[in-house]
Amino acid sequence: MPAALHFDKGLANTIAAETSLSFIDGEKGVLEYVGIDIDSLARQSTFEETTFLLWRRRLPTSGELSAFERELHAHAPLPHGMLDLVRLFPRSAPPMHALRTLVSALALFDAEADDSSPAANERKSMRLIARTPGLIAAFDRHRKGKPILEADPSAGLARDFLRMLNGAEPTAAMAQALDVCLILHADHGLNASTFGARVTIATLSDMYSAMATAVGTLKGPLHGGANEGVMQMLEEIGSIDAVDGYMREKLANKDKVMGFGHRVYKAYDPRATYLKTFAEKIARDTGNERLFEMSKRIESIMHEAVAAKGIYPNVDFYSATTYASLGLDLDLFTCIFAMSRMAGWTGHCIEQLDGNRLIRPHAEYTGPHGVAYTTIDRR
Ligand code: CMC
Repeated sequence: MPAALHFDKGLANTIAAETSLSFIDGEKGVLEYVGIDIDSLARQSTFEETTFLLWRRRLPTSGELSAFERELHAHAPLPHGMLDLVRLFPRSAPPMHALRTLVSALALFDAEADDSSPAANERKSMRLIARTPGLIAAFDRHRKGKPILEADPSAGLARDFLRMLNGAEPTAAMAQALDVCLILHADHGLNASTFGARVTIATLSDMYSAMATAVGTLKGPLHGGANEGVMQMLEEIGSIDAVDGYMREKLANKDKVMGFGHRVYKAYDPRATYLKTFAEKIARDTGNERLFEMSKRIESIMHEAVAAKGIYPNVDFYSATTYASLGLDLDLFTCIFAMSRMAGWTGHCIEQLDGNRLIRPHAEYTGPHGVAYTTIDRR
């Protein structure tokens, strides 16, 4: 191995890109988007404004925000061919498989798919963000045998997603709750799916390929799929009385508990801090206290067992209770994460292309050398 190289399993101690989108201090539990702390954004911003911030590295004026929202929302209606495609999917397909395929298929209906100019990439980014809610809702309606509803370009993305999904206007509180979740998940440094997207775009492939990579990477239970894992765990436990026994067994078996631990945070994930309070309120408002109380008990057992190792709840832990309280199906949780992270993924791809260099690390070969080829009749 050349002297300059060193092996870093999981790239845990490697800085592989520069970014000005988001900053994380894992020791202090800080997350900022373009210097603004996540708590201020969750309390005061909207997903659309946060997307503007991540892309342009500043907050918009009110005129700029209205123009941005108008342009973004105008891209929301899906090409008709996409709806025909959705109707071909097996109803039993897991939604993340459907979403990954649909995000990739959007390229087939975009004449600019291979135009890598900055202007075309921004338009494609808008299409990807604006159309993802409709793709998720369309597949969910299809699998439930319900008519697919078209996007309403006059509505915000969170509200319109819930309308397209449920076939009824959500309350303002529900739409705002989802909007807050979208803000909290919009970007997070060089997480695995963002890294995947940057690797793909750095080959000078295209935005849709990069987003298909990202959705596929997010799906894993060690990444975005953990929120579904948390909900499965809560369902499996069933009641507050069963939490202690369940957790005793998990800890004795040294099983990983979904929704805990993080590669970067060794303190409380600031998104989880916000979501915990938020989940409590929404769970009470919607009669889902049981889920919240179970989550709190799990957290307290984990705190005693593993906080000394720097393992705390991450963003996925309380987002599970929040999504369940919003009435969302368990297997849509990671899709909603993707809907939000699309803002960060696209922003990172545009950033990567500005001063691009192919991302191509090395592997340390651990196999044999000089092996003689044995012809097939002698094996
Ligand atoms: N439950 C119990 N123990 C844990 C957990 C957990 N969730 N996470 C880490 N540990 C222990 C692990 O067993 C190991 O212990 P030891 O040193 O005694 O062997 C130590 O902590 C270090 O763990 P690691 O897996 O080597 O850490 P990592 O940085 O490679 O992995 C992680 C980070 C997020 C993959 C891991 O914490 C995990 O698997 N968590 C559960 C899945 C999860 O919630 N993922 C969502 C991450 S946040 C949202 C996102 O970015 O997608």
